[in-house]
Amino acid sequence: MSKQIWKPATILNPVPVVMVTCADMDGKPNIITLAWAGTINSEPPMLSISVRKERYSYQLIKEKGQFVVNLTTRKLAFATDYCGVKSGREVNKFEMMKLTPEKASKVDVPLIKESPINIECIVQSVIQLGSHDMFIARIEAVNVDEGLIDEKGKMHLEKAGLICYSHGEYWGLEKPLGYFGYSVAKKKTVTRRKKK
Ligand SMILES: Cc1cc2nc3c(=O)[nH]c(=O)nc-3n(C[C@H](O)[C@H](O)[C@H](O)COP(=O)(O)O)c2cc1C
Repeated sequence: MSKQIWKPATILNPVPVVMVTCADMDGKPNIITLAWAGTINSEPPMLSISVRKERYSYQLIKEKGQFVVNLTTRKLAFATDYCGVKSGREVNKFEMMKLTPEKASKVDVPLIKESPINIECIVQSVIQLGSHDMFIARIEAVNVDEGLIDEKGKMHLEKAGLICYSHGEYWGLEKPLGYFGYSVAKKKTVTRRKKK
């Protein structure tokens, strides 16, 4: 396979696309769509988001030191895009997209009721990288739609209809190709999983 050498670019794909909620000091909420977001630590659970200084949401997140990461779904794809092209300086994105702000459990920023998973975060530090500032945050609570939890308490995230972002497009997830460790799984495990 021959390859061309291209200049450095943000080509890591696919990436998550999330709707981050934030609020000003008077409690007025806003939503910003972000693709530069990722898990960065397991214990304690931490994630990062990278935001340009010129975004309306930047100041809100900086001042409050709190935000909520709301996972996006097929149903929320249109709103996800809208919240990534319109500014909270001009429009109320909750109202325009008919989304419901709901009280979070650990942070003073509302979550989006229509999103199946809401991750409540408190900022630990901010790193200036260049075009973006990276907010390193600790996950304080995770809100899970009860419709995704079975009678044994297991979460079925595959039912949420999550989407990702790849090369300028929103993509739905297709069928799973394997599971963690399937390349080395014992025959017994494979049979047990098939029966499920
Ligand atoms: C798919 C997508 C991904 C985006 N990712 C980022 C990002 O990671 N960081 C960022 O600062 N802006 C990102 N944006 C742009 C902001 O969402 C956009 O400028 C938004 O209108 C800012 O809203 P605000 O002014 O209300 O804060 C993204 C937009 C889209 C559509």
